[in-house]
Amino acid sequence: NSVKAFAPATVANVACGFDIFGFAIEEPGDVVELRRRDEPGIVITDIFGDEGRLPRNAEKNAVTVVMLRLLEHLGIQDFGCEVVLHKNMPLGSGMGSSAASSVAGVVAMNELLGNPLTRQELLPFAMEGERMASGSAHADNVGPSLLGGFVVIRSYTPLDIFTIPVPEDLYCTLVHPDIEINTKDARFILRNEVSLKNTIAQMGNVAGLVAGLMKADYELIGRSMVDVIIEPVRSILIPEFNAVKQAAISNGALGCSISGSGPSLFALSRGMESAIKAGNAMQQQFAAAGIESSVHVSAI
Ligand code: HSE
Repeated sequence: NSVKAFAPATVANVACGFDIFGFAIEEPGDVVELRRRDEPGIVITDIFGDEGRLPRNAEKNAVTVVMLRLLEHLGIQDFGCEVVLHKNMPLGSGMGSSAASSVAGVVAMNELLGNPLTRQELLPFAMEGERMASGSAHADNVGPSLLGGFVVIRSYTPLDIFTIPVPEDLYCTLVHPDIEINTKDARFILRNEVSLKNTIAQMGNVAGLVAGLMKADYELIGRSMVDVIIEPVRSILIPEFNAVKQAAISNGALGCSISGSGPSLFALSRGMESAIKAGNAMQQQFAAAGIESSVHVSAI
């Protein structure tokens, strides 16, 4: 009558793949606990780690809205449970914070109901959490948080999403500066038109990144981690972006870009030692500008 679910942080976009690439890291991640209660209704009893900032109303929180939609879909009425959310990552960080809550929430509810749906089938519900949190139902955070690994979203309508293998020695360094960026705002500033020249460059990099990951060609992965469309616009919101990116690359990272909608930066490296070295250099570069940051190194 009670369950607990964990959902990891994720890196969306992965440089060239705006809204179509994302991967999960090992930690941090959000944890949701559910307990049945006799009275109907989904009630948020506690949220830890949000400094009181997230809504306690079940219809307005990404962790519970997904549960309500799932119950509706299954035609279950008068269901009662208490929800406790442990937020283990900062809000507005570019680490897929709302996605981790939605995924942990929908996975926990599915389990409490005896797992009527597969993980793949839970995806549209988790995406509704993203729609509520950011105004757009993108799947590049919820997809990898739910399915694990490196995810490609080939199409949204109809939804066509799958995972691809990554080389064994590929590590991610995620550096979160103590700044907040709202995904809604970071999407609003993007232009709707893209030039043919930039489309060609971006398509080449998308193809190169997929091929590099699948062939374990680290050089190709690095060369393909280039975003000519989104990064030039969004990087303006991140102080020291160019210097921190340069610090990662000159300290051995294969490539470096914005994680999701920022302000976190991520780098990919071959081997854990290299990923740690890049993280130290990135953190020092932020520190030189008086910006505190936290570093997470993880296999993908
Ligand atoms: N693809 C989304 C965006 C991810 O960049 O807006 C948000 O984390």
